[in-house]
Amino acid sequence: MDLKGRDYLTLADFKREEIWYLLELARDLKKKQKVGIPHQQLKGKTLGMIFQKASTRTRVSFEAAMFHLGGLAMFLSKNDLQMGRGEPIEDTARVLARYVDGILIRTYSHQEVLDLAKYADVPVINGLTDDFHPTQALADLLTIWEKFDTLEGLKLAYVGDGNNMAHSLMLAGAIMGMEVTVACPEGYEPNPSVVVKAQSLAGQTAKIQVVREPQVAVQGAQVLYTDVWASMGQEEEAEKRRKAFQGYQINGELLSQAEKEAIVLHCLPAHRGEEITAEVMEGPQSVVFDEAENRLHAHKAILAALL
Ligand code: CP
Ligand code: NVA
Repeated sequence: MDLKGRDYLTLADFKREEIWYLLELARDLKKKQKVGIPHQQLKGKTLGMIFQKASTRTRVSFEAAMFHLGGLAMFLSKNDLQMGRGEPIEDTARVLARYVDGILIRTYSHQEVLDLAKYADVPVINGLTDDFHPTQALADLLTIWEKFDTLEGLKLAYVGDGNNMAHSLMLAGAIMGMEVTVACPEGYEPNPSVVVKAQSLAGQTAKIQVVREPQVAVQGAQVLYTDVWASMGQEEEAEKRRKAFQGYQINGELLSQAEKEAIVLHCLPAHRGEEITAEVMEGPQSVVFDEAENRLHAHKAILAALL
């Protein structure tokens, strides 16, 4: 499979077999790291990483991933780049592409990532926008696959805000043949155009739906997923959202209504006592730290394949 030179903007750009290729590569690179087999496939390659929002996992795992692969990652914060003083994205894109072999960007508007990709003739990786978080979704698929040895036919229930995470999980599930049910309060539904896109990508086994009741969503689910009620950039709405999302918490009671073997995922950072209880987060069904670790392995696969 040749993915060299491709952008990684949303999962909808990839076919099922391409995502399987990335997952298998991630598993292989994870094994190599665990047993100490060098995998410096990107010697001499460089990745520029533009961050307009905070990050722990994405930043550190991509930086470590480039180092393990023999390459160099450069962290470029909004405060340090001329972009922060108004240099247009199309100029930044064309300049950076002359220096580096790939660009990762975390920003607000998804359009900015599309513009960057249009003007940069090196692969562009979406490290989170207000609308999508596709590198996280790949690590989530890897985690689910490791736990159940399959993806097709599994049901994932997402409880909470119809945000970037919900969008990427709907696309991921649709492509991989999973059932994804999103439960959210009125006014916080996923973008209808993304729901329609995911439904159009869903094959024979996949099913994508949005419901109101968390209890309905978790029926028959092997995977429970949640994310913060107020995403980055929505800090001022936090109080209003705390009220709107009452009842949309993954707690012991809700978890007991899912399948017995169900696992709980959260992209992190988590707010214990809001979208998830400390009891569930620290409980035996939670795999959130395996999931966080898998960011590293999934990102290595993306980098090795695209760069
Ligand atoms: N899940 C995730 O993307 O974490 P960071 O915001 O810490 O990168
Ligand atoms: N929905 C969250 C995800 C953080 C990784 C946010 O955008 O802040």
